[in-house]
Amino acid sequence: MFTKINQVLWKITPLVAEYLADDKNILRQTGVISSGSVVIELGCGVSGLIGLVVGPTLQQYVLTDQSYVARFVEKNISENKAVMRPAASKKKKSKQALVPTLENVVFKALDWELDEVTAGLTGLDHIRSFDVVIACDCIYNEALIEPLVRACVDVCTLREKDRETDNSQATPSMPSTVCIVGQQLRDPDIFDGWIKEFHKYFRTWRLPDEVLSPTLQSSPGFVLHCGVLRESSLS
Ligand SMILES: C[S@@+](CC[C@H](N)C(=O)[O-])C[C@H]1O[C@@H](n2cnc3c(N)ncnc32)[C@H](O)[C@@H]1O
Repeated sequence: MFTKINQVLWKITPLVAEYLADDKNILRQTGVISSGSVVIELGCGVSGLIGLVVGPTLQQYVLTDQSYVARFVEKNISENKAVMRPAASKKKKSKQALVPTLENVVFKALDWELDEVTAGLTGLDHIRSFDVVIACDCIYNEALIEPLVRACVDVCTLREKDRETDNSQATPSMPSTVCIVGQQLRDPDIFDGWIKEFHKYFRTWRLPDEVLSPTLQSSPGFVLHCGVLRESSLS
C-alpha cells in the first residue's frame, strides 16, 4: 500500500513494520494486536514508518518522540493521508471501497527524560490506557536505557491504574499492556545494559526465529522482545 516516506529509515524499521502489519504474525494470531488495539510507539523517529504501516489496521496509533520530530512525522502523515484517501465514487449510491486511512494515526511529543506519561496520550476521551507499546531501534546510548525503560513501565502502569478507576472501560479481565521492542544488535554492552534494566521490571520473551518473518529471520542481529510488567513493578 505504501506510498511516500520522507526522511531517515533505520534498517530494522521497515521489517518490523511489515511484520507487525501482517495478519499471520504470532502477535495478531494470539490477539496481542488486533483491529481494536490502542498502541503507542516510543521514539518513532522522523519517518513514523511503523505507525504509517500498522496504524491503519488498528483502533488508534500514537506516534511519540521528542518535539523536534513533530514537523517531519506530521508531514509524512498528511502526505500519506492524501495518497490513501478513497477516490470519490462516480455512481451516487455505490459503496466506496474500504481503504485503510490514517485518521487514527497521530503524533504527540513525549520525551522520556522530560515528560510525564499520562492517559491523555491516547488522544481518545473514553480510552485511558494502551494495549501495546512499541519501541524500535531506540537502544543505542547508555544514558537513554533507564529513561526508556521507565517510559515503558509508565505506559504499562496506565492500564493497571485504568482497571482500578470507576466508570473506566478497562475491565479487570482486560489484558496487561504488552511492550514490544525491536532492535538491531550493535554494541553488546549497551544491549546487555538494556535487557538487564528491562528485565528488572518486565517478564521478558525474545521472539524465536520460527515465529518471525523470513526477512527478520534472515537478518542476523535483528531481534524482537516482548515484555509484560511484573506485578512487583507496580508502585
Ligand atoms: C535510532 S532512532 C529510531 C527511530 C525509529 N524508532 C525507527 O525505528 O525508525 C531513535 C529515536 O529515539 C528518539 N529519542 C532519543 N532520545 C529520546 C528521548 N529522550 N525521548 C524520546 N525519544 C527519544 C530519537 O529522537 C530517535 O527518533
